[in-house]
Amino acid sequence: MRRLPDTPIPTYLVETQASANTHLADELDALLKERPRNLVLGLATGSSPVGLYEELARRFQDEWIDFSFVRTFNLDEYRGLPAGHPTSYRTFMAEHLFSKVNLGPRNTHLPPTAPEDLNEACAAWEEELRAAGGVDWQLLGVGRNGHIGFNEPGSAFDSRTRKVELAESTREANARFFEAREEVPTEAVTMGIGTILEAERLRVLAFGPTKAEVLSKVLRGEDDESIPLNALRRHPDAALFIDDAAAAKLGC
Ligand code: GLP
Repeated sequence: MRRLPDTPIPTYLVETQASANTHLADELDALLKERPRNLVLGLATGSSPVGLYEELARRFQDEWIDFSFVRTFNLDEYRGLPAGHPTSYRTFMAEHLFSKVNLGPRNTHLPPTAPEDLNEACAAWEEELRAAGGVDWQLLGVGRNGHIGFNEPGSAFDSRTRKVELAESTREANARFFEAREEVPTEAVTMGIGTILEAERLRVLAFGPTKAEVLSKVLRGEDDESIPLNALRRHPDAALFIDDAAAAKLGC
């Protein structure tokens, strides 16, 4: 793993995705030992975190790392999918992590998506997050348009958890998880950028050629506030982990 010089957000080029996953799992392991009874994790969905979740599940099996007191808050959830839908983020998290380690349902939180009083429900969810002590360690992926969570380009950097419309490019990118493109919801609920920036540590995984363009805009370009990933320039402990394909347009 090599730290790239002169990037506005600390960025590490990894030899393999597995080496990034090992590094992040080690960091989490250390935090779990340091704060065994009150660790709060912010979690992400998509392809990028799958290997890390596998590594955590392996360590739970082989090394007994203990999640029984950990509380988790996910970044986002689609709106309009029935409970238990195979591509909801709740289902994704259950399949990839929650059912693989000792994380009880009472300790796992996804943003509310029910139609009535959504604003109130989002505020209450944020209150629950605050009452838990806030996020100690937040995992993020990045959309090919630079979104974080489901904060699409143009989202305010002080935005809070709320309902959002998905960009067409996001629906297209996420269509691979659905049977047909029309099935991809048009709305979601996401933690806001302001909410995300309150986490103590932010760790971003960006792998593959579809991330190269936006990474070159963020890491080699101006501080353009229309690209949500640029918000991380304002965070004291953020780090990006990228592979060769994602780094292809950085000239390094
Ligand atoms: C979705 C999620 C984002 C995630 C992004 C990237 O849109 N809402 O939180 O970062 O996908 O996903 P992937 O890791 O599959 O590229």
